[in-house]
Amino acid sequence: MKLAIMGAMPEEIAPILEKVGEYRVSSVAGNKYYECSFGGVEVVIAYSKIGKVFSALTAATMIERFGATAMLFSGVAGAISKELAIGDLIVATKLCQHDLDITAFGHPYGYVPEGSQFVETDERLRVIAKDVAAEMGIPLKEGVIATGDQFVADAARKEWIESTFAADALEMEGASVAVVCNALNVPVFILRAISDAADMDASFDFDAFLESSAKVSADFIMKMVDRIGG
Ligand code: ADE
Repeated sequence: MKLAIMGAMPEEIAPILEKVGEYRVSSVAGNKYYECSFGGVEVVIAYSKIGKVFSALTAATMIERFGATAMLFSGVAGAISKELAIGDLIVATKLCQHDLDITAFGHPYGYVPEGSQFVETDERLRVIAKDVAAEMGIPLKEGVIATGDQFVADAARKEWIESTFAADALEMEGASVAVVCNALNVPVFILRAISDAADMDASFDFDAFLESSAKVSADFIMKMVDRIGG
């Protein structure tokens, strides 16, 4: 097994690189990939840059070039569900692309022919996450995550995403990573810690809480890696 651990921004993988300590670095298509063995597990770590295109490229590179056989994504998200506060964790059961729109042809939002409106994550990895949360004694919400190439800082857009997809949180990479992993038959796990509420205060909150929430998510992912390594 080789685990891919991925984020979108440098802040999302910094706590992971700090934890693993030593690694080999290589560059592919403008991104750096960090490889090492951690707790007996081979890992490749990278951040993609923001958005669906860069995250799809990085996920595919981790699988095709670096031989990753499972994908763990760690990062931050905007909350939709009122149950989620800043710093809370959410695990995606399934994800959608909220900005994918060929409704002019009678299709639902988020759907293209030969695709699906929602893409699911791996149940076994979610069970490991639940076990880790129980051991740590912390709550872990499961829910729907909506992805799009848009930083949402607007109550009306957030409400539309909630009513259209029954989404609990939103971000900019999860669905594209999950689509790539599903297409290449690699189990995928998407974890996010809340940095803001996708409302008029979102950009301020994002800047204030990016680092601390990214660390909450990264620390949890590393507990999962510990457990996977046994
Ligand atoms: N990631 C974290 N907060 C976000 C927001 N409000 N919109 C999009 N992606 C995010």
